[in-house]
Amino acid sequence: MFEKLKAHGQEHLVRFWDELSETQHTALAEQIERIDFPQIAHLFAERDQANEVVELVDRAGEPAAMRLGDQKNRFSPESACRRGAEALAGGRVAVLLVAGGQGTRLGFEHPKGMFPIGPVSRCPIFQIHLEKVVATARRYGASVPVYLMVSPATERETRRFFAENANFGLPETDLRVFCQGTMPAIDDRTGKILLAERGQIALSPDGHGGALAALQASGALAELAERGIEQVFYFQVDNPLVEVCSPEFLGYHLLARSELTSQVIAKQDPKDRVGNVVEVDGRLRVIEYSDLPDSVAERRRADGSLQIWAGSIAVHVFELAFLLRMSGRADALPFHVAHKRVPFLDEQGRAHQPEKPNAYKFEQFIFDLLPAAANALVVEVDPKTHFAPLKNAPGAADDTPESVRAQIVALHADWLRRAGAEVADGTPVEISPLFALDAEQLRERIAPGTRISQPIYFRP
Ligand code: UD1
Repeated sequence: MFEKLKAHGQEHLVRFWDELSETQHTALAEQIERIDFPQIAHLFAERDQANEVVELVDRAGEPAAMRLGDQKNRFSPESACRRGAEALAGGRVAVLLVAGGQGTRLGFEHPKGMFPIGPVSRCPIFQIHLEKVVATARRYGASVPVYLMVSPATERETRRFFAENANFGLPETDLRVFCQGTMPAIDDRTGKILLAERGQIALSPDGHGGALAALQASGALAELAERGIEQVFYFQVDNPLVEVCSPEFLGYHLLARSELTSQVIAKQDPKDRVGNVVEVDGRLRVIEYSDLPDSVAERRRADGSLQIWAGSIAVHVFELAFLLRMSGRADALPFHVAHKRVPFLDEQGRAHQPEKPNAYKFEQFIFDLLPAAANALVVEVDPKTHFAPLKNAPGAADDTPESVRAQIVALHADWLRRAGAEVADGTPVEISPLFALDAEQLRERIAPGTRISQPIYFRP
């Protein structure tokens, strides 16, 4: 091991070897074993080019899209819903929920899915997502298996939380938790891998794009194929408004024979902090908000609307065959470089908490599969009803627990009013997905004229 480290100029990783216990030796050796040193050297050498999209951005145009309420759309919502419902009833759809992020901005000390987001119930985000899956499986009379991606940072607590809550009603055979990989952080001047502790490398999750490699390495991809799954509905843990396994969205994807379909919202402001789905040279791709120059973000069409309008909300459907094909390619996903503050031990073993960025971290993004997908498509949804991401701590300007709860209440109050109930303005209301998955189902369950003026949580 020492020779290998030396050959790559990383022998400092075992500087404190003699001070470590046997268990620590094993743990450190395992971490070293998993590092691809030539890859790290390459990423350091290429660090300035890694996020280079300037040249692409110049050619960015509008993606093929199903726009909201557009009469000229290729497919009707009715035909899409029918097609999506067929796939669900046939048991051909699985869910991939990514929950490996560290949620630093939220300032919550547990996995984000444990955050008590329910506006009345204070139920955790995981419960809302899982109840949607359970209710969908019931509605279509077929199982919808969930593949939950965690990271070393979230695995232990997430597994315990699911066990304590009986998987929120999902049968054990329909839940598979798998862990994503990690990447070491490196010193921004020297390219040397940082030590977090004497026997511990500074590692962080390898991005949601790590899902591709982790699905394959864990055997989950093969299992999906064996179960007869054909489409994988992907979403992030941070958005409790996701319409999980939306038959309409699945339907557009199937009708278009798309290998990868993404949900988007029409950006209100050129600088909205979402990824931008664009078409470049006949292929769709996402350009992160941080990489989009203002001059391009502000381009407008003759009618004044934004040219780069499609904001990704990180909800996708993947054809399983596409994931299988891409998982066999070493270059399927590039690494993005982030310049961050990473605590580390110096040569004398002193701990440092840097005040400015000192290190590079590397992540893969799942949406970088878009350019490789045949017939890729975007489907526009209404942000009011589909997108309420929990990103920031209470008191921040947006995407906070307060703003997310307010959006859930507004949506559910609207469903209740459409069902004929009278909801006094400002009354907190919340509907468990097990009570009703949508406004239509709620109409069957609520007596018209019902008056609501106290906080209420509807559940079976
Ligand atoms: C992300 C998207 C952005 C999109 C926005 C919508 C990226 C780079 N950007 O932004 O295009 O508009 O969401 O809300 O993704 N995760 C893992 N493992 C990891 C890293 C993240 O599972 O290693 C999961 C997190 O648990 C979370 C999700 O991925 O569910 C998003 O990660 P985050 O880093 O918060 O993305 P954003 O910058 O908010």
